[in-house]
Amino acid sequence: MDLDSLRSARIAGTGRYLPEKRLTNQDVEKMVDTNDEWIRQRTGIMERRIAAPEQATSDLAHEAARIAIADAGLEPKDIDQIIVATVTADTVFPSTACRLQFSLGCREIPAFDLGAACSGFIYALAIARTGIAAGSFDNVLVIGAETLSRIVDYEDRGTCILFGDGAGAAVLSVAGDGEPGIIDTHFAADGSGADLMILPGGGSRIPASHEMVNQRLQYIRMEGRSVYRQAISKIVMLVEESLKRCHLTRDDIDLIIPHQMNARIIQSAADRLNIPMEKLFVNIDRYGNTSAATIPIAIDEAKREGRLKKGDLVCLVTFGGGMTWASALLRW
Ligand code: UT7
Repeated sequence: MDLDSLRSARIAGTGRYLPEKRLTNQDVEKMVDTNDEWIRQRTGIMERRIAAPEQATSDLAHEAARIAIADAGLEPKDIDQIIVATVTADTVFPSTACRLQFSLGCREIPAFDLGAACSGFIYALAIARTGIAAGSFDNVLVIGAETLSRIVDYEDRGTCILFGDGAGAAVLSVAGDGEPGIIDTHFAADGSGADLMILPGGGSRIPASHEMVNQRLQYIRMEGRSVYRQAISKIVMLVEESLKRCHLTRDDIDLIIPHQMNARIIQSAADRLNIPMEKLFVNIDRYGNTSAATIPIAIDEAKREGRLKKGDLVCLVTFGGGMTWASALLRW
């Protein structure tokens, strides 16, 4: 292959949408046997956002996408492909991406959902990047959007404290000669840990039934401790290997945007990497874990707060259900 003909991709626009309703730790205290101090100390979370009853994932995604497209200086008709990373699609089928293609007023373009749980957005970014590199697409809309409140068991204190709803979007466009952009992506999976974080019911293994609902199998089940331990070592490994592939060092990094799963996981990873916390973006206190949406929401916030400057080296890194993990290194 003629590598010179491959085109680079850059994030040309970003957007986010968080539903208005807040679920505070004090609210959660009324639902399960927990308390604000425990949640704050063990997770760093103070509140999460909850979608309104009439809002589905595509509605949240639509708002974030609209902002991202305008931010890129484009219109919906300029988008060549839509990838929506989510584990809470509006319906099993059709895809959330198809709903968006129509609601945004895009042309008849490829549109599909991607299921890689918390790693979904970086998976989507990696795939979108190859389409741009090959010359198949010029502008790809990449979204992470979730309404996790619909699959959280508010009787399970081990999980209901963690998750929230939200959407983030990015438009990936061709980077011109010498323009900064994505310089490395890596994504992988290990299905031996598939049962550590799972929504057991409602799929082809355990289809919807009264029995399934009686056993509360329509809700997330998670072995938190095991996920916690693996997350720290995987995040450290991902950052180190990404830097190595690009012949860079940890001192070159300006900002790490990690998946917002638990503030202690982020802190431990920073300690092991010997990178100061000021270089890690954290907003889990306000939104909890929004799975595939955490990274694009954080990118948009970091950008609008002025924490991303032209030429900055930024590392996106995540670990989640599957198990899946992924990283991206980019020049802003
Ligand atoms: O995107 C990936 C998504 N998944 C994750 O990010 C999960 C990663 N895991 C975690 O974030 C943590 O494991 C949790 C926050 C889920 C749990 O924190 P932990 O420090 O691992 O607690 P633990 O499960 O080891 O439980 C410690 C104690 C237990 O009591 P005993 O057995 O020591 O008496 C639990 O029963 O804390 C108890 N506990 C709680 N207490 C008050 C567990 N959940 C709660 C709670 N409130 N919500």
